[in-house]
Amino acid sequence: MNDRPAASPLSSSRVLVLALTATIVVLGLGVVLVVIGRSGTAAAGRPRVNALANSDDDCVSCHRHATPGIVQQFGFSRMAAAEVECVDCHEVAEDYAGAVEHEGTYVLREPTTAMCESCHHAEVAQYNQSRHGLPAYVAYAGAEGLSPELLAGYEAIPEGGFRPDRMRNALFAMEGDEITRFACRSCHDIGKPAADGSVGQCSKCHLRHEFSLEQVRKPETCNACHIGPDHPQYEIYQESPHGIAYHTGGYRWNWEAEPGTLTPEDFPAPTCAICHLSGFGAAGTTHDVGERLTWYLFAPISERRPAWQDNRVRMQSVCSECHNANFIDDFYQAADAATERVNEWVRESDRIIAPLRRRGLLTAEPFDEPIDFVHFEAWHHWGRTAKFGIWMQGADYVQWHGIYELLADLAELRELVADKLGTR
Ligand code: HEC
Ligand code: HEC
Ligand code: HEC
Ligand code: HEC
Ligand code: HEC
Ligand code: HEC
Ligand code: HEC
Ligand code: HEC
Repeated sequence: MNDRPAASPLSSSRVLVLALTATIVVLGLGVVLVVIGRSGTAAAGRPRVNALANSDDDCVSCHRHATPGIVQQFGFSRMAAAEVECVDCHEVAEDYAGAVEHEGTYVLREPTTAMCESCHHAEVAQYNQSRHGLPAYVAYAGAEGLSPELLAGYEAIPEGGFRPDRMRNALFAMEGDEITRFACRSCHDIGKPAADGSVGQCSKCHLRHEFSLEQVRKPETCNACHIGPDHPQYEIYQESPHGIAYHTGGYRWNWEAEPGTLTPEDFPAPTCAICHLSGFGAAGTTHDVGERLTWYLFAPISERRPAWQDNRVRMQSVCSECHNANFIDDFYQAADAATERVNEWVRESDRIIAPLRRRGLLTAEPFDEPIDFVHFEAWHHWGRTAKFGIWMQGADYVQWHGIYELLADLAELRELVADKLGTR
């Protein structure tokens, strides 16, 4: 027998009190939710909703168990909300280059830019025009292995014309595959051709599977590659007033703002993306990271780019959202002059070793004696670093990691040359 007391029937007055209390609670909760909703939208831009929570898609149903992380991340993406599906990026025909058989169909392990291109034509076209495309790959692999179509594509890139220095390919060859897989290639494969003939890897910046705007707009994304003694753009940014503003106040910025509509209200100071890619002021969103650059700063001796005047106008239109015209003109004049000054010192390093070249006193092998390294580092590390510091406001990198080291290398070169010539 059930000896628990039967629930006593509620008296009508208690029902009334309960109903009133419930109404008040519901109304109150409503107000709280609206408030949270508002401030949540202001801070985070978009509400986080898992669009795949109730999905019965085949891939999703099984991958919820096979790879829960991937389904979870894609569920929160803007693309899942727009009903883009796993198959849109992954599924291909049986005879597609790189296809692997999987659960009764064929998939790509790493979707290529050809998959993205069907929906994001403009982004892929811009990317292909940039040095993040084929030039990044040719920088280590050389152009010899490219198919005729790829070679034609490479040669058509306006900003790609700068030919890579042979010495650096030599370093790639010297170090060998075991190492370069984890070194050159892990950064430069951002421009690697895939088996289907398309170029590049969007997920080097857009970490899958959330493809979040906040993540890709933050400077840490560029930090994967734009760091170190030869291109310390991230370190320079950190010590610039722009980077300081980011590190001290960035948590309040509007990271998920709609692309193409960004203003200083969303971003009171620029990140790498704002200056180089984002639509900001009169500059439109672009995946061609060379589109706003005046100089080939990475080169031993910097020269102006073919379309430098248009590029400069685009970059300056970003600056002018926050700085006035005189400020920007003064800055560009001073930075142009400083760039030419660094060029002079690099020419000096060439002049110092010229007598050895003339007399055949340098071995033909690259990087086989100390003087090769000193001569290389003078421009590749210190000359470049100084130039990047000048243009992106990193005084310490212009001075102590830049010009000072360059001057020290010039002194060392003079001594090494004198030793070889027997004039010391
Ligand atoms: C019945 C379960 C199931 C279904 C349905 C399924 N998958 Fe998978 N999938 C898996 C498992 C399990 C793995 C991991 C295999 C492993 O680790 O070897 C996997 C691996 C993958 C991989 C990596 C393949 C590789 O060789 O590295 C991709 C990409 C993938 N699935 C995509 C999809 C897509 C797209 C769909 C829908 C067309 C799908 N899967 C349907 C269970 C499934
Ligand atoms: C917008 C395009 C896109 C969509 C949609 C997409 N993926 Fe992917 N997926 C990628 C890319 C790009 C990679 C390769 C990332 C890399 O370079 O490592 C990848 C890699 C994978 C891998 C192999 C990598 C690993 O770590 O195991 C699996 C498995 C996978 N995706 C499953 C899925 C499933 C399941 C869905 C749907 C819930 C999905 N993907 C939707 C673009 C997509
Ligand atoms: C089937 C079409 C389709 C494919 C394939 C596709 N996308 Fe998308 N993608 C979309 C749509 C639609 C949106 C816009 C969603 C919106 O604005 O609501 C979008 C938005 C995006 C966004 C912006 C996300 C945001 O939060 O605003 C990124 C980044 C992106 N896609 C990257 C990729 C990459 C990388 C690939 C290839 C690996 C890819 N997409 C493949 C349709 C696609
Ligand atoms: C940590 C990431 C990273 C690694 C590792 C790396 N690079 Fe680079 N490399 C870059 C970046 C970023 C630039 C662009 C610098 C700039 O434009 O200011 C660059 C520029 C270059 C350039 C000049 C641009 C050109 O196309 O001529 C060459 C050549 C080059 N790298 C070759 C190599 C080789 C060869 C290796 C390996 C021995 C290597 N890199 C390792 C990130 C890397
Ligand atoms: C160098 C890093 C980088 C790479 C590589 C990259 N993106 Fe982006 N992408 C960004 C940034 C940064 C934004 C945000 C721009 C902004 O602030 O509005 C973005 C935004 C987007 C958007 C949203 C644009 C819009 O106007 O709505 C799409 C779509 C997209 N990327 C697709 C791609 C595709 C496809 C590839 C590969 C071909 C790719 N991206 C490679 C950095 C990158
Ligand atoms: C996976 C590595 C990688 C990531 C991540 C990356 N880059 Fe690059 N970037 C490179 C390499 C490699 C080059 C040099 C390519 C060459 O010239 O050979 C380069 C070149 C550039 C250039 C010079 C282009 C030119 O025309 O000379 C700019 C500007 C740039 N990147 C900006 C960015 C920004 C901004 C981000 C982050 C949103 C970013 N990159 C993320 C690898 C990367
Ligand atoms: C205030 C805007 C601004 C910010 C922020 C910024 N840059 Fe730059 N960047 C510039 C300017 C200006 C130049 C020099 C352009 C020229 O040649 O005229 C430059 C040059 C470069 C170059 C050299 C390209 C070459 O010719 O070798 C790379 C690479 C680069 N920036 C990457 C980055 C990365 C990565 C970040 C963030 C860590 C970043 N930038 C932050 C404005 C900016
Ligand atoms: C979104 C707004 C914004 C944009 C865009 C912007 N800046 Fe700035 N910039 C700032 C802020 C904020 C400061 C800090 C001002 C201070 O020192 O009080 C600053 C400071 C500077 C300084 C002073 C550095 C110092 O050491 O005192 C220089 C130089 C500079 N910016 C150059 C540029 C250039 C060049 C561009 C375009 C390539 C640019 N900025 C784009 C907001 C911006």
